[in-house]
Amino acid sequence: MSDKASIGVTGLAVMGRNLARNLARHGHTVALHNRSEQRTRELVEQFGSEGTFIPAYSAREFVDALRRPRQIVVMVKAGEPTDAVIEEFAPLLEPGDVIVDAGNAHFADTRRREAALRERGLHFVGTGVSGGEEGALHGPSIMPGGSRESYESLGPLLEDISAKVDGTPCCTHIGPDGAGHFVKMVHNGIEYSDMQLIAESFDLLRGALGYEPAQIAEVFRTWNTGRLDSYLIEITAEVLAHTDAATGKPFVDVVADQAEQKGTGRWTVQIGLDLGVPITGIAEATFARSLSGHADLREATRGLGGPTRAPLTGAAAESFADDVEQALYASKVVAYAQGFNQIQAGSAEYGWDIDLGAVASLWRGGCIIRAKFLDDIRAAYEAEPALPTLLTSGDFRKAVEDAQDAWRSVVSTAVRLGIPTPGFSTALAYYDALRAERLPAALVQGQRDYFGAHTYRRVDRDGSFHTEWATEDRTEHPA
Ligand code: 6PG
Repeated sequence: MSDKASIGVTGLAVMGRNLARNLARHGHTVALHNRSEQRTRELVEQFGSEGTFIPAYSAREFVDALRRPRQIVVMVKAGEPTDAVIEEFAPLLEPGDVIVDAGNAHFADTRRREAALRERGLHFVGTGVSGGEEGALHGPSIMPGGSRESYESLGPLLEDISAKVDGTPCCTHIGPDGAGHFVKMVHNGIEYSDMQLIAESFDLLRGALGYEPAQIAEVFRTWNTGRLDSYLIEITAEVLAHTDAATGKPFVDVVADQAEQKGTGRWTVQIGLDLGVPITGIAEATFARSLSGHADLREATRGLGGPTRAPLTGAAAESFADDVEQALYASKVVAYAQGFNQIQAGSAEYGWDIDLGAVASLWRGGCIIRAKFLDDIRAAYEAEPALPTLLTSGDFRKAVEDAQDAWRSVVSTAVRLGIPTPGFSTALAYYDALRAERLPAALVQGQRDYFGAHTYRRVDRDGSFHTEWATEDRTEHPA
């Protein structure tokens, strides 16, 4: 057994440090490197007893500490810093060596880097890692792209440190080049959507029932024992139950109501538009964050008229929390259905051949959107890999059909009381649009043909047509 390291980590801020510790705790010898030496020393001083680390204080020393094929995990800020680190190490590596980018890179950058490094005989593995700092240390969900060949050496290590559900690692080879980062991007888009829907549920329970945050925390705790069982519902209950030490007020009432973002949700929406996939839930969630941040606009419009917000009473109040649970579940199914359709579209566009059941499986544990119902999504795609949408899959179809009355009632209550529910509303509109026999898109086609001779297709004949709108008899002819 060589005393060289089986893997190295460069970039030892908290995510990199925790991944390195996780690897070492699983018995792998880990080479360490960081731009400033201090972080490397600190890691060894504080956590050296957790496993075998080889600290390196130069790029050459780091590369020499690694067994071949060398495997280097880069955990630096996405963008230029990643390119800089690649350029620092690539010249020191030999054909067959592997560079792993475990940051939140844009998949298009990953495709570019992979192609460039392939030319130099190196493997570049863009890898999605989800689960935050804790996940990185105790078991994240891992989404590696890159060549299948690179996964042969790298896969076992990543599977070792990933979360496990029913003994199955939450890590699998997603597909070539940027596939892993694409799937991580969609994961984050779904994360935005899920968070927005949960936040709207809170707002509804407060606005329509007058519940206090601590009471709503209890409602979420109950929901978390059923089909909504998920990490995000669990932490929502924790956040809502928390009291601010300085003021004694509910924590949620002392936090500025302007949601920020680092950009992965925005990428998901941009790519959704490019691919022509209607990911309306993710888009609304992203715009809801953006709207919340427009302080000046909100200040200027604060006095605009609206309905009186009289809380519900009687039977309507009694069933409301249950109705919100149903609306949340149905809207969540829509959010995940849209996200999986985006992965399907990306896979077709880039020839990745992504197994959607495997993606659902590795999201069951470790990641931010981990949820009980991902096991049902896994089963749905395993039974029918080319499923057009989750909404037509047996159990989901029935659950959403059963929930629709409550879903409609919640959205109409929200509209009546003036409580903004962009996530719930767009999810319901998506559902209704998909199931509609006819859409007013036909009229849009007529308008386009009228003002721009853009032509239209007919329901009863093949081909494209144009109507001479300016003439008296409005003759139609094939375009
Ligand atoms: C994860 C998360 C993580 C993401 C944060 C912050 O999977 O561990 O998705 O990657 O960066 O959740 O995202 P925003 O700042 O955009 O909300």
